[in-house]
Amino acid sequence: MKVLLINGSRRENGCTYTALDIIAKTLNENGIDTEILFVGAKAVTGDIDALVKQAHELVKQCDGIVVGSPVYYASPSGEVQIFLDRLFSAAGSDLRLKPAAAVSSARRAGTTASIDVLNKYFTINEMPVVSSNYWNMVHGNTPDEVLKDDEGVQIMQTLGRNMAWLLKSIEAGKAAGIAQPAPTPKTKTNFIR
Ligand SMILES: Cc1cc2nc3c(=O)[nH]c(=O)nc-3n(C[C@H](O)[C@H](O)[C@H](O)COP(=O)(O)O)c2cc1C
Repeated sequence: MKVLLINGSRRENGCTYTALDIIAKTLNENGIDTEILFVGAKAVTGDIDALVKQAHELVKQCDGIVVGSPVYYASPSGEVQIFLDRLFSAAGSDLRLKPAAAVSSARRAGTTASIDVLNKYFTINEMPVVSSNYWNMVHGNTPDEVLKDDEGVQIMQTLGRNMAWLLKSIEAGKAAGIAQPAPTPKTKTNFIR
């Protein structure tokens, strides 16, 4: 089993990466493979098509995803939002029913608002949302500061353990003959019948 972790920061090895790396290490310790995909500036340059194509291939191979973003102006980064708009349009059916978690990193504020935005991609797409024992945030401006955020580190570790447990439970359910629900045709009314 494998989890794809998406780093929605402009900084490849910054605070968001540090949080994702803690989750990845915990998943690895629990027997789950991981891969971290860096979004960065590719989302706002001519490279977005290739990036979404690459991510779509990774999505097909993964059993769960984690999306991490720094907080920019109390929201997820513009880069990750552009990327997710495109990825969920292209790969939504391959992401459906796969467990997912959103993580944010901030110096101080805007974390829960950012997590809410990211969770909405999952909850329109029938993806079980994995939680921890606090909202999934770390605090700091540098990786070193994030590692000194003891509570943030513990939240990421707990999230990794919970994700591993859910993935194994789904696998056990499949082996026991529990079928995944088929997609429901959507009723789209635009509020008018
Ligand atoms: C453009 C920009 C806007 C930011 N806005 C906020 C903010 O609204 N609230 C906050 O606490 N930190 C804010 N920060 C700080 C980052 O969220 C914080 O340093 C984060 O941990 C950086 O993660 P990274 O190293 O993965 O990029 C901002 C940083 C940048 C570059």
